[in-house]
Amino acid sequence: MSSQSQPRRVENLHTDKGKVPVYATGIVEQPWDDYSADDHATWATLYARQRELLVGRASSEFLRAQDAMGMTPDRIPRYAQLNAVLEKATGWTLIGVEGLLPELDFFEHLANRRFPVTWWIRRPDQLDYIEEPDLFHDLFGHVPLLMNPVFADYMAAYGRGGVKAHAIGPDALQNLTRLYWYTVEFGLIREADGLRIYGSGIVSSSGESVHALESAAPNRIGFDLERVMRTRYRIDSYQKTYFVIDSFEQLMDATRPDFTPVYARLAMQEAIPAGTVLETDTVLQRGTGEGWPTDADA
Ligand code: PHE
Ligand code: CO
Repeated sequence: MSSQSQPRRVENLHTDKGKVPVYATGIVEQPWDDYSADDHATWATLYARQRELLVGRASSEFLRAQDAMGMTPDRIPRYAQLNAVLEKATGWTLIGVEGLLPELDFFEHLANRRFPVTWWIRRPDQLDYIEEPDLFHDLFGHVPLLMNPVFADYMAAYGRGGVKAHAIGPDALQNLTRLYWYTVEFGLIREADGLRIYGSGIVSSSGESVHALESAAPNRIGFDLERVMRTRYRIDSYQKTYFVIDSFEQLMDATRPDFTPVYARLAMQEAIPAGTVLETDTVLQRGTGEGWPTDADA
């Protein structure tokens, strides 16, 4: 972070995770010296496990970018060190946060190429699943692709789009959130050697890394902007449907137009349940639906 954009430190916050410096903006300083041996071991275990799973499963660009950043398994990375590399590559800066931010704050950070990263890491008994995003999900899952110039631009454009959708209203915001969910969090990409993962929610989950690519249960459908923005999703189970892009350029091109008329069109259409396949879909695989929860989607 440049000294100019350095937020002013205002107080110390006492949380159940310890005493953490907080800034006026809700930004916290990564309390790196306070990470315990257990915290570093959790990072090391998760990192080694995911890297092994992701060879041949994650997009080649994700793996390349992660190496280029200098993330290693031995200890939790220092945001300041990653920032030296990231700022030079694409102008993005990581900022520490306590957890999920109010939507508008989140969008404004993205629009200004600041990516909020949760400072704390899950407990050793939460290796396989945690409800909220922690440091591992944010740093391992989201940050590598910010090294990719096209994806880096997509994320900043998304932030600007978020500020706009927030002003338009809750329905527009919901449409935009679905786009984030099915691309940034749970997106698949078609590469020369086959389907690969790029969504952070998948790459940071050992179970879903395998499920998203290899299970017969989910649908895998070609990306279509308005189709995605109409589709409900699951927050408590593996996705019933994954949407597949051909390239990050495709994502950039599809989302470049002004969404204002898109939101207006979508407002007159029904939402699509998470597991539904439409006649108009480009179906790469129709899921068997095995093991799907039957209660309502988010
Ligand atoms: N083009 C979108 C708009 O006008 C903004 C956007 C860009 C949204 C990229 C998502 C991703 O609102
Ligand atoms: Co996430």
